[in-house]
Amino acid sequence: MSVNVKQLAAEKAVEYVQDGMKVGLGTGSTAYWAIRRLGERVSEGLNITAVATSRASEEQARELGIPLVAFGDIDSLDLTIDGADELDSKLQLIKGGGGALLREKIVAGNSSRMIVVADESKAVHTLGKFPLPVEIVPFAWEWTVAEIAKLGCKPELRRSGEELYRTDNGNYIADCRFEVIDSAPELALALQGITGVVEHGLFIGIADMAILGKSDGSIEIIEGGKEE
Ligand code: 5RP
Repeated sequence: MSVNVKQLAAEKAVEYVQDGMKVGLGTGSTAYWAIRRLGERVSEGLNITAVATSRASEEQARELGIPLVAFGDIDSLDLTIDGADELDSKLQLIKGGGGALLREKIVAGNSSRMIVVADESKAVHTLGKFPLPVEIVPFAWEWTVAEIAKLGCKPELRRSGEELYRTDNGNYIADCRFEVIDSAPELALALQGITGVVEHGLFIGIADMAILGKSDGSIEIIEGGKEE
């Protein structure tokens, strides 16, 4: 029987959740398994409150009976568990493949601890093969996309069927193909300097630990992202 590597990583991460914690719920097919396991633990008596990073995760958590609060109702979170599209050995991440990067960054950035859960294929030597998702405002998107392209990538507006994809915040996503990102901090600064960019999918100095599920049924743990 083949191993569900996403489930493996996600369920290991949920072991770090303790009674009384305020927990950030990530988005995507790996975070799904973490939320599912958290739901089981809640039904067994675990007492937590959670903040969801997307409508999809909110719906899943609600169905499982995980107590949810709005981000504005709390000061900070203890732990966020979320997936990633790419991660390097410094625990710099590319996120946003599922379009939830803005809420994910607000939630993870305000958590004492972030654990990334992923299958081993997400670990890379250098970020950039996965097109970097950048959330942009719809107004003057053509200009914003042209400015982003000047940073050395090929941006493509994400679509959802015939329509342009809209995030939970009503914005567009430009998926930016860099191939190689030499300095994630420098690129992050440059993107932040473009009016019209709401947020980008580079998570730097946010993750504390990554749990990678492997096809042989083992897990690999990478720690120390914030110290870099
Ligand atoms: C959503 C994300 C996801 O965490 C990322 O895309 C990884 O997703 P998956 O676990 O399905 O591979 O950033 O915005």
